[in-house]
Amino acid sequence: MELFLDTSDVDAIAELCELYNVAGVTTNPTIVTKSGKPFDQLMAEIVDVLDPGQKLFAQVVSTDFDGIMEEARRITSLRAENTYVKIPVTRIGMRAIKACKAEGLGVLATAIYAPNQAFMAALNGADYLAPYVNRMCNLGDGIGQVLQLQQMLDVQGVDSKVIAASFKNVQQVNELIAGGIEAVTIPVDVAYNMIDNPSTPIAVDEFTANWEKAYGTTAL
Ligand code: E4P
Repeated sequence: MELFLDTSDVDAIAELCELYNVAGVTTNPTIVTKSGKPFDQLMAEIVDVLDPGQKLFAQVVSTDFDGIMEEARRITSLRAENTYVKIPVTRIGMRAIKACKAEGLGVLATAIYAPNQAFMAALNGADYLAPYVNRMCNLGDGIGQVLQLQQMLDVQGVDSKVIAASFKNVQQVNELIAGGIEAVTIPVDVAYNMIDNPSTPIAVDEFTANWEKAYGTTAL
């Protein structure tokens, strides 16, 4: 399974890449604006902290076909490989996804609110499909719909990979991992919450105190 970070916080990306086996970084226009940096500068900084094998995802902003295609080429040229353009699954976006795949570009279909939207993008060859889990949960059975999407892909033997996105808590992540989703992209707070648990340091303090009482040292 691939674990991605959904953030433009370069320091957090660097730290989390030391803590976990991170497959790459996803951004969207809102996430980019939160960095307060120009797009090209931010992308260069993220590329600097990633290994060449880690993937980078950036989203188009234009909504017309020619604009999407131009931005798709620009994004996928940010570095030699492992760079994907994110395209929302509007009607024009679907056309662009098909055209990008014909050009051999890496594509993530995004802004997905229903399994049918994702499946159509998969038929157009999208490499990744990003359902917006928390936003779908706010509207109904988001978890169930994402699992249904995975089932649709499996039953039909379609290769596109679900990269579940828009998480607000670890329970949502756990449910989709348990359900067999192959990739998740999580924000920084959820990434830390995947490992932070208040009971763990209490247990460690108890081990340390018992060791010190017996041997007069806090190390082996
Ligand atoms: C990911 O690629 C999406 O753009 C992102 O997860 C959306 O998250 P949000 O619902 O928190 O905006």
